[in-house]
Amino acid sequence: MVQPYKHEPFTDFKIEENKKAYLQGLETVKGYLGQDYDLLIGGERVTTEDKIVSYNPANKEEVIGRVSKANKELAEKAMQAAVEAFKTWKKTKPETRADVLFKAAAILRRRKHEFSALLTKEAGKPWNEADADTAEAIDFLEYYARRILDIKDGVPVQSRPNEYNRYDYIPLGVGVIISPWNFPLAIMAGTAVAALVAGNTVLLKPASTTPIVAAKFVEVLEESGLPKGVLNFVPGSGAEVGDYLVDHKDTRFISFTGSRDVGLRIYKRAAELNEGQVWLKRVIAEMGGKDTLVVDSDADLELAAQSIVASAFGFSGQKCSAGSRAVIVEDVYDQVLNRAVELTNQLTLGNPEEQGTYMGPVIDQSAYNKIMEYIEIGKQEGKLMAGGEGDNSKGFFIKPTIFADLDPKSRIMQEEIFGPVIGFSKAKDFDHALEIANNTEYGLTGAVITRNREHIQKAREDFHVGNLYFNRGCTGAIVGYQPFGGFNMSGTDSKAGGPDYILLHMQAKTTSEMY
Ligand code: NAD
Ligand code: ALA
Repeated sequence: MVQPYKHEPFTDFKIEENKKAYLQGLETVKGYLGQDYDLLIGGERVTTEDKIVSYNPANKEEVIGRVSKANKELAEKAMQAAVEAFKTWKKTKPETRADVLFKAAAILRRRKHEFSALLTKEAGKPWNEADADTAEAIDFLEYYARRILDIKDGVPVQSRPNEYNRYDYIPLGVGVIISPWNFPLAIMAGTAVAALVAGNTVLLKPASTTPIVAAKFVEVLEESGLPKGVLNFVPGSGAEVGDYLVDHKDTRFISFTGSRDVGLRIYKRAAELNEGQVWLKRVIAEMGGKDTLVVDSDADLELAAQSIVASAFGFSGQKCSAGSRAVIVEDVYDQVLNRAVELTNQLTLGNPEEQGTYMGPVIDQSAYNKIMEYIEIGKQEGKLMAGGEGDNSKGFFIKPTIFADLDPKSRIMQEEIFGPVIGFSKAKDFDHALEIANNTEYGLTGAVITRNREHIQKAREDFHVGNLYFNRGCTGAIVGYQPFGGFNMSGTDSKAGGPDYILLHMQAKTTSEMY
């Protein structure tokens, strides 16, 4: 019998054995740095001349690996492989499909620290952030496998005498999975396997800055018994391969996680009918965030400052869920701000391979440039309280940065920066704080620090975000516990790691028989 789902525990690296295991993982990864990886099309490995080169963002001289790069012709070949494989995979028993995920989870668990170390090398994740990413990938596998087993026999509906009605979920077809670099394992794996376990075949296009961890995960799925053609691995340029696959007549659905602008582009293109296409494409688009922590006058102020700092600077603020705005009721504003600055000045910035480093680099040169531009904007718009400097001589390092006294409509308070920068604004009272919290076009995560039960209830109703947290930070949703997804320009609120998620990759069929 399948055991009830429980999330994968995080690793305590204070325990010597765990520390050694992580360092061993790092040695394993060092052993395969710089290798080449192929595309996977219809179960065959395809090598191209043109490569995507993946670098270590903490040490830009270090090549993590090189991945063959799909073009339109290869994307077309992969599409045909996926169309063909769908004919049999859709009829494969849900139990068999679930078993692939269970086995992949077991392999990942066995190689947990190797995968985490690879995330450190390829994405610049410090140990605990890498460990959380790997744990989340395991959780997605375990959780979605159980969800397909829950719904494999359909959902009960009423039948009258001499009538037998059924309501079953069937797969959709070929899905294009387009993933971001910031959770290069968890989101890439979670979005791919949700589609697969539902009986669809997929084309997986990972982010170009983190393709190696994706290539390694694809190997795990092969080892777990995923049949040929069911998953096709097609790294490539978003503009070329991405657009081609989004537009393709045989694409039945697109599962995208990434920025607002690319999400909107995909949403629009997917709405166009192409010659030979006989369906409306379904789009799952999980996009950006501009996430707010609200601090009430009646709050534990130490908890508030700690929650703000952890939400803003964990993984250098490169989470869609990151706290990038703190809105503080005026009578406690100075106290919370000063304590947050104190805590921020204690954070360590450096090589994420070293145990205890709190913040590593940002992902690449263009992210570095963009964030440093925002820091200049922040200096005009508000008061620099901490950080404000970067160093890209070896890797892409930016100090955790706090701006205070910002107008809630300023750019720092409105636009997704996606880096270690947080803005503080003062609110007259709690109602005003909520009003500010809701004044962006996004609606992904939020947190409220308060001891006031009425205010908790008010925020529960009026703070318009997909994931709202009380008396804690606004990052770190756990699969199966805090399903994750946002409102408004944060996307389609598909709620990854939630009970409905795999249903978004399926369609319901009603059958009715008379006896
Ligand atoms: P991005 O939009 O630049 O890229 C995401 C993916 O889209 C990549 O694989 C990229 O190659 C691909 N892409 C680019 N152009 C494309 C096109 N024309 N057609 C198809 N695909 C295309 O985002 P990113 O920089 O990788 O990730 C950071 C962004 O992702 C942030 O905005 C962050 O908030 C968001 N994000 C959201 C969630 C969520 O669950 N809401 C989770 C993680 C990240
Ligand atoms: N699921 C991730 C978090 O909650 C993005 O931080």
